[in-house]
Amino acid sequence: MPRQGLERTEDPMKAVFLTFSQTGNTRKLARALAGAFGDRGWDVESFSLDRARPRDVAGADMVAVGAPCFSSQAPSPVKRFLARLPDLSGVRALVFATSGGAPGRVLWDLSRPLARKGADVAGGFLCRGECFHPAPSITGRSPGRPDSRDLAEARDYALSLAAHVEEGRAGPAPGTRRDALFPDLGFYGLVALTSPDPILRLSLPRPRAMTERCDECGACVAACPTGSLAPGKGPVQGKGCIRCYRCVTLCPKEAFSVDWRMGDLLVRTLYNPRFERWFGDIKPGEPVHEKREI
Ligand SMILES: Cc1cc2nc3c(=O)[nH]c(=O)nc-3n(C[C@H](O)[C@H](O)[C@H](O)COP(=O)(O)O)c2cc1C
Repeated sequence: MPRQGLERTEDPMKAVFLTFSQTGNTRKLARALAGAFGDRGWDVESFSLDRARPRDVAGADMVAVGAPCFSSQAPSPVKRFLARLPDLSGVRALVFATSGGAPGRVLWDLSRPLARKGADVAGGFLCRGECFHPAPSITGRSPGRPDSRDLAEARDYALSLAAHVEEGRAGPAPGTRRDALFPDLGFYGLVALTSPDPILRLSLPRPRAMTERCDECGACVAACPTGSLAPGKGPVQGKGCIRCYRCVTLCPKEAFSVDWRMGDLLVRTLYNPRFERWFGDIKPGEPVHEKREI
């Protein structure tokens, strides 16, 4: 039976937002989307995915999962969390992501496990996010994104998605991204398929701790999404590193170094703005502010 979100005579519908965000871009997007559901009278609960438990989705009419794109896919800690979710039969799903110009399979990586658990995918949204990857060829791209325009678009989309779900309409809401419903079979889809974590560890450089700079504040240990940094003076990298470089970019003492001589060549080749325009998500005329274009 359709449920009208604005009717006060019955329990409000409930949305549970689970967001993984390292540098805040996806969290901004989550707030804009969740705010729109709240404004339509939904009961909204939001969790940071690294602190969430699978049972937090209990009682939800809609589960919304958001993540940044890493290496044209969803970060593996997010995929692992989704695999542990309980049965979602009868639940609607929204997936959302932020990325540079090459999202590849990120939305599909989020929607597929939810659909496998029985959820009906109602929505998919993606917008650009400023890139804090330390590789010299891509760091600083898309500055300030998501910006107020991105967030206004997200809000409009969420309002119409909420109405779609309230009316009891099955399937995706109008405006849902195609790559949330079908896998990307293009160039960046292939990059994602050929870049599981062991390959990333082989092809991208390892962050190295400089013990003389480390003051053992523990920020990197707490932020490592795979828990693969052991505490101590100059934390030691374990085997689970997914090359997200969060330890490098957040360390207040700049106590990690990365030798980008080879890795940057690979990044620049795969993620150059020209390829991202041809095979990725960058729209004609959309500024990238890359440091150099090949
Ligand atoms: C390690 C790393 C890898 C990334 N890989 C990609 C990628 O393959 N494709 C892409 O479009 N953006 C990529 N990005 C850009 C991020 O997806 C983007 O900056 C995102 O908004 C970060 O979200 P957050 O602030 O919520 O963590 C990458 C960023 C990092 C740090």
